[in-house]
Amino acid sequence: MGFVATEEEVSFYRENGFVEIDNVISQDELEELRMALEEVMAKPPAQSVQTSESKDLYYRVLNQRVNTWRDHGIMAKYALHERFAKLARQLTGASGIRLFHDHALLKMPGDSKPTPWHQDLPYWPMDVPEGPVWSGPLSIWLALDDVDERNGCMMFVPTSHTIGKLTGISLVEPQDIFDYAKGSEAAERKPVIVRMKAGSCTFHNGLTFHYAHSNTTDKPRRVLAVIYMPDGTIYTGVRHVVTDDKGLVAGQPFAGGLFPKLA
Ligand code: SIN
Ligand code: NI
Repeated sequence: MGFVATEEEVSFYRENGFVEIDNVISQDELEELRMALEEVMAKPPAQSVQTSESKDLYYRVLNQRVNTWRDHGIMAKYALHERFAKLARQLTGASGIRLFHDHALLKMPGDSKPTPWHQDLPYWPMDVPEGPVWSGPLSIWLALDDVDERNGCMMFVPTSHTIGKLTGISLVEPQDIFDYAKGSEAAERKPVIVRMKAGSCTFHNGLTFHYAHSNTTDKPRRVLAVIYMPDGTIYTGVRHVVTDDKGLVAGQPFAGGLFPKLA
């Protein structure tokens, strides 16, 4: 089981802004997590937030539920799991890792749209602590189904995390992020397609350019993604579904029970 990243994985992550780590959960855990995901998605949200409605254009890109850990104990088990947070700590070299939020990311069959090229950090209300670019906030993207180009596997542009923070783009009416990155050598790099078996994952830095293919199969593509931030990350006060009206103070570091330190 890949509970500790190898030196190669850590340096690959730091250099390229993403890394694949295989078999981070067992078959039993995979079954448990799949069942919990089905259960949580079948019920109306309580504390979690459904950010796409089934008639939305957004839903054609992603059927997305944010903070499933707050509605289901098994989702909490995995969203808060020390194993993944420790991997995030190792990759970033952070002294501690906090949860920002989880999200169930289902790419639904039938008129499915790709997730357009984007960076994640522009959407997050975070000021990142000083440090090398690879030490910043990141996501785990844990495949609960085998993924390839037919059902929504991801692509990453190697080294694109060095380009800097660009404008956040719309996922339904996307602007071309490569236009914003003109003149950057990193943006010219050939994207890497990451096909994976269920139970394997990628980590990607919040600045890495990434994309997911549409789902042309007849089954949903199921993923649990969790966003982690290095301890000391500052809340900016910019509006976000996870932080609005939670009593956070702009300019102060993320803290408290909704953003727990996991490793
Ligand atoms: C996806 O799963 O389709 C996109 C995930 C991401 O943007 O991080
Ligand atoms: Ni993203």
